[in-house]
Amino acid sequence: MKSSRRKFLTSISMLAASSAMPITQFDFGMNAKLKIALVGTGIRGITFWGKRLVDEYSDILEFVGLCDINPGRLSFGKEYTGANCPAFTNFEKMIQDSKPDLVIVTTKDSTHHEFIIKAMEMGCDVLTEKPLTTDENKCQAILDAEKKSGKNLIVGFNYRWSPYSTKIKQLLADNTIGKLTSVDFHWYLNTYHGASYFRRWHGQMESSGSLWVHKATHHFDLLNWWINSEPSEVFAFGDLEFYGKNGPFRGDNCRNCKHQSKCDFYWDISKNQFLTDLYTKNEKYDGYIRDNCLFRNEINIYDKMSAQVKYQNKVQLNYSLTTYSPFEGWRVAFNGTEGRLEAWMDIPYYKEMNIDQAEMHEKEMEQNNGETEHYEPIIVHKLWKDFETVMVEMEKSGHGGGDKRLQDKIFRSVNSVDPFGRTAGSRDGAMSVLIGIAARKSIETGSAVKIKDLTNLQPRTVRD
Ligand SMILES: NC(=O)c1ccc[n+]([C@@H]2O[C@H](COP(=O)([O-])OP(=O)(O)OC[C@H]3O[C@@H](n4cnc5c(N)ncnc54)[C@H](O)[C@@H]3O)[C@@H](O)[C@H]2O)c1
Repeated sequence: MKSSRRKFLTSISMLAASSAMPITQFDFGMNAKLKIALVGTGIRGITFWGKRLVDEYSDILEFVGLCDINPGRLSFGKEYTGANCPAFTNFEKMIQDSKPDLVIVTTKDSTHHEFIIKAMEMGCDVLTEKPLTTDENKCQAILDAEKKSGKNLIVGFNYRWSPYSTKIKQLLADNTIGKLTSVDFHWYLNTYHGASYFRRWHGQMESSGSLWVHKATHHFDLLNWWINSEPSEVFAFGDLEFYGKNGPFRGDNCRNCKHQSKCDFYWDISKNQFLTDLYTKNEKYDGYIRDNCLFRNEINIYDKMSAQVKYQNKVQLNYSLTTYSPFEGWRVAFNGTEGRLEAWMDIPYYKEMNIDQAEMHEKEMEQNNGETEHYEPIIVHKLWKDFETVMVEMEKSGHGGGDKRLQDKIFRSVNSVDPFGRTAGSRDGAMSVLIGIAARKSIETGSAVKIKDLTNLQPRTVRD
């Protein structure tokens, strides 16, 4: 295929369907670039999907429209990304005027469905940031719209693409520990990154669907992919007992708080020029405060969570998420009929090194093309044998190197075969948020919740 636009449009249908054959064939002229419109010019939109695409892929794609409800952030976003295109505060008008091939959705989570559905109805393919959406009704509406429109939807699950996650997938797919039977997965957010969710819209259930959805969608997607099955039933506990109403004092925001000197969470946004330009200078348009008090009373999400999930292939999962850990990291252990696999990331005691937790979060979010840094171990311990250590070459920035690999697959190496099946379509997006939605319902009702009762998707024993 000679046209990069045509190549992409054929491939997106393959990616969305996780299928080996293209579903749709397009017929465009030679050398046309892929036309992209983006809605949601916040930090993720303008850095990863904005500036990075302009800097790295301008030979094969072009932005034809940017949209946000905040005109100030929109204007800053346009300048920051370097996208040479019109800016809109009305989404429908952007689609009508700019006629994109692909719409990228990077608004706040509770609004994703509006733009995904509208874009597909107006004839565009869609790439949405995680989470797919925040409740089961919106999820069903997205699935229905995708079916009715015949358009394609992919979900930007970047964690799958880090070399470390991929190595775990490979070891499990190779049956290194026999038939998988159970999994323990525990994720620790520190008092910088974890706290940051409580400073803004993520702290409200109606905007983020809680961290069960906003954050854990990453984890449940990894688990569904590693376990290679779909979830059938969820039982969960959760509580809010550290942030929000539990704080010893509260102010309007950090900038003007009278408790600055005694608050361990005091954060001066004015020291960060980029965040000041993106958020503080544009508060006047919509009242979006980036440095809200994380002890404000409106916070209604959980700050500690645990769940048991049963998979259709009978694998049992124990999951937990902590949001005020002194360090940021995670641990996973897989039990199989022939042994055990253990993996972890950033547990400081294992390395006997001091990691600056504030710098760590900034590094994680950087998009500097991910220099190779070091090797990390995965332990494979077969029954009756000594354990073995598998060393994985690592990158730190851009979500462990996952970010750039995801974009390369979508836009550049469109026809390459991925033996690990790392691109995610609407079904993957749905299955990962449905676990979190079921967990929320389980906490509310005190009962286990079946995934098949949430939408018309019936969980499969084997994912692919
Ligand atoms: N994959 C990842 O690792 C990753 C990392 C960060 C963020 N994200 C996702 O990216 C999305 C954006 O996150 P963010 O941190 O950039 O948030 P943000 O608050 O910085 O940006 C959201 C933007 O959406 C705009 N917006 C909100 N409602 C809108 C509407 N109705 N119409 C138009 N614009 C609207 C806001 O004005 C804001 O500019 C979220 O869904 C988040 O989950 C993913």
